[in-house]
Amino acid sequence: MTSNADIVVDQFTRQAAPFANSSAMRDEDALRLLVEFSGASAEDTVLDVACGPGLVVAAFAKVCRHATGIDLTPAMIDRAREHAGALGLNNVDWRVGNVLPLPFPDGAFSVVASRFAFHHFPDPLAVLREMARVCTRPGRVVVADIAASNDATRADALNRMERLRDPSHTKALTMAEMRVLFAQAGLSTPRETCYDVHADLEGLMAASFPAPADAPIIRTMFEDSLADDGLGMKTRRKDDRILLSYPIAIYAADV
Ligand SMILES: C[S@@+](CC[C@H](N)C(=O)[O-])C[C@H]1O[C@@H](n2cnc3c(N)ncnc32)[C@H](O)[C@@H]1O
Repeated sequence: MTSNADIVVDQFTRQAAPFANSSAMRDEDALRLLVEFSGASAEDTVLDVACGPGLVVAAFAKVCRHATGIDLTPAMIDRAREHAGALGLNNVDWRVGNVLPLPFPDGAFSVVASRFAFHHFPDPLAVLREMARVCTRPGRVVVADIAASNDATRADALNRMERLRDPSHTKALTMAEMRVLFAQAGLSTPRETCYDVHADLEGLMAASFPAPADAPIIRTMFEDSLADDGLGMKTRRKDDRILLSYPIAIYAADV
């Protein structure tokens, strides 16, 4: 049987280049918001959990003492090394590996962050507990991820579509579900802020690697969502394009 880890590495080896070059993923304002919302400053040592191509690590490394990124997909860590090298950052480290468990001792980092990865974890609570474990006291745990609609039908539709588009998707949580996760991990109630990541359907499909038979189903789901926002992604038509927005929430808990 294919494991979640195998599916993640298969998907993100293919997605590494488009993801690393995506203007939405590189968006400086969004990266700045994440760093500022975390409260990170010059003395902090940061861990980015499931760091992908190192965009978040680099954003923290520009303002913090040191930043480490860990990711399961070697092709993503290759991109991360290139990105940090191009920026001339020498206060970064990289690890290829699974984030469950995190291969770091208790209290190793003062800020432990993760962006756009929780919806890939089969056991997000276990990962959040690991993030809390490797965080200093005091310190901060920060998660940014897709926030599924509070409307259960829309949330189910979003998750169904995302699993077709990217078979490594497990579940985008609602903000209420994420708050429960923070409480279960023994973390304080997180501060929250929200923003949208904008995309258009064809750009999204060009950077995605669904099973061939699933591509038309995904397009139909977006077409159908134009009438009633059935995906909770503010789908709208502009000329001959379908525009969409991923609702993102950032959660920051003081540890
Ligand atoms: C959508 S990308 C996000 C990358 C990065 N955090 C960012 O926001 O730019 C998700 C990343 O999670 C990684 N990933 C998923 N499950 C993982 C796991 N169990 N352990 C380590 N990395 C994982 C994938 O390899 C991929 O690089």
